[in-house]
Amino acid sequence: MNVLMVCSEFAPWAKTGGLADAVTGLANALVARGHDVRVLLPRYAHLPGPGVTLRRLRAGQHRFDEIEPAAGDRPAPRVYLLELDELTANSIYTADARDAGRFIRLASAALELPAALHWRPDILHCHDWHAALAPVLSRAAGATRRTRTVLTLHNVGYQGVFADDVLEQYAPPQLRAAIAPDALAGGDVNFLRAGVRAADIVTTVSPTYAAEIRTPQFGMGLEDALNARGATLVGILNGVDYDVWDPRTDPFLATHFDATSLATKLELKSALAARLGLQADATTPVIGIVTRLAPQKGIDLLAMALPELLRETRATFAVLGSGDTVLASTLAGFAREQPARVAFTDGYDEALAHLIFAASDLTLVPSRYEPCGLTQMYALRYGTIPVVRATGGLADTITHFDPATSTGNGSVFRDADAGGLSWGLRTALDWFDDRAAWPRLVANAMAADFSWGNQVPHYEDLYRSLL
Ligand code: ADP
Ligand code: GLC
Repeated sequence: MNVLMVCSEFAPWAKTGGLADAVTGLANALVARGHDVRVLLPRYAHLPGPGVTLRRLRAGQHRFDEIEPAAGDRPAPRVYLLELDELTANSIYTADARDAGRFIRLASAALELPAALHWRPDILHCHDWHAALAPVLSRAAGATRRTRTVLTLHNVGYQGVFADDVLEQYAPPQLRAAIAPDALAGGDVNFLRAGVRAADIVTTVSPTYAAEIRTPQFGMGLEDALNARGATLVGILNGVDYDVWDPRTDPFLATHFDATSLATKLELKSALAARLGLQADATTPVIGIVTRLAPQKGIDLLAMALPELLRETRATFAVLGSGDTVLASTLAGFAREQPARVAFTDGYDEALAHLIFAASDLTLVPSRYEPCGLTQMYALRYGTIPVVRATGGLADTITHFDPATSTGNGSVFRDADAGGLSWGLRTALDWFDDRAAWPRLVANAMAADFSWGNQVPHYEDLYRSLL
């Protein structure tokens, strides 16, 4: 099948979080199954970076650059960058009306690119609010069109809501009339709601989240539109790209290991502790956390639980995160007061993220909601035990360990508060101290298989059902 992916992030070109990894992993896995996958994203100011050659293309009023694949790369989708011209800015998102302009342009470019390539997509697969207007324009283009549209919701907490005068400023004239009336309410336009109304099928990134977002607690105001989709809203769990996240080959690691050479994991733990100034030997439980600092992620709950955890347990924390500045300064405060127990790195650092997943004993994902979550799956691969809240994809990937039967791959807690988090973490710390239980738990974690190869047939079935 011919598939055009439309998105704001694609790894390694543009990444702020799991969206980039998820779209890239899916696209690569589809290519590996023999499909012709092309990807369209904006050309941000930092692209293409040194040593990369671009090939110019023109389609209608849009200009594109195709990234020339480097020799020796594994088979990969062809990537096209949309020129943003006056809307270029020094970051992936501008968080102002220019984002509306950029992503309206992305949607209309998605309909024009195929002609320039003399290629017709069977499926236009759009991701998140940034691409959600492409199904709207596609529907408006007419009933005879052959291309079917899929909209994947990676996070309904981000909907792309703007004062509706952005349409006059940036949109082709036919767009406003094509948007469902309820996505144009109160002087605003809601990109994601418009896409949910227009796409042939809507997917989200885990079965549990697909059920949760039909309720007011998780639907973020879209629950009516999501319920109206009935069986045309489906949840498909994300996979992991084990070519990128693999302790046996990870290029970000100085040494490599697998389930039979865990002594090497301990060497990495020492290296991480030394680098961050933590005092941790083999018997100290190190909890590594890599996260956006946003209310979704529940790191404020950790901040509430930390004083007690530092007083009453031996837990030692390596936190890498960026986002909310108040939370960042709270975490930096703990690190200043107890530098041997808490390290906080404020920023975005891909290499350190890999080292933290590889070197830690545990990771903590206390999310209030989590559409899928990738970090808990990355951690499993490196024998790092996830402590997670039972929500969304976390609930679909992590099962609470039972030392009596040796089943389960992590610690799962229910309540989104400091007490719940503390219970989940202390339970895992008890297992860590249990010399018989811990190796069995680590073995379960490393044996789990969340590869994209298992998930991609679900997308293939879905695409076929549309054609
Ligand atoms: P989300 O997309 O909601 O942030 P996911 O768990 O799906 O959550 O994906 C997060 C991705 O972003 C992971 O690849 C994680 O390693 C990465 N990430 C998050 N914060 C940082 C950071 N500060 N530095 C490096 N990588 C980060
Ligand atoms: C979003 C979600 C996260 C998910 C990722 C990839 O960023 O917050 O849960 O894993 O998208 O689908």
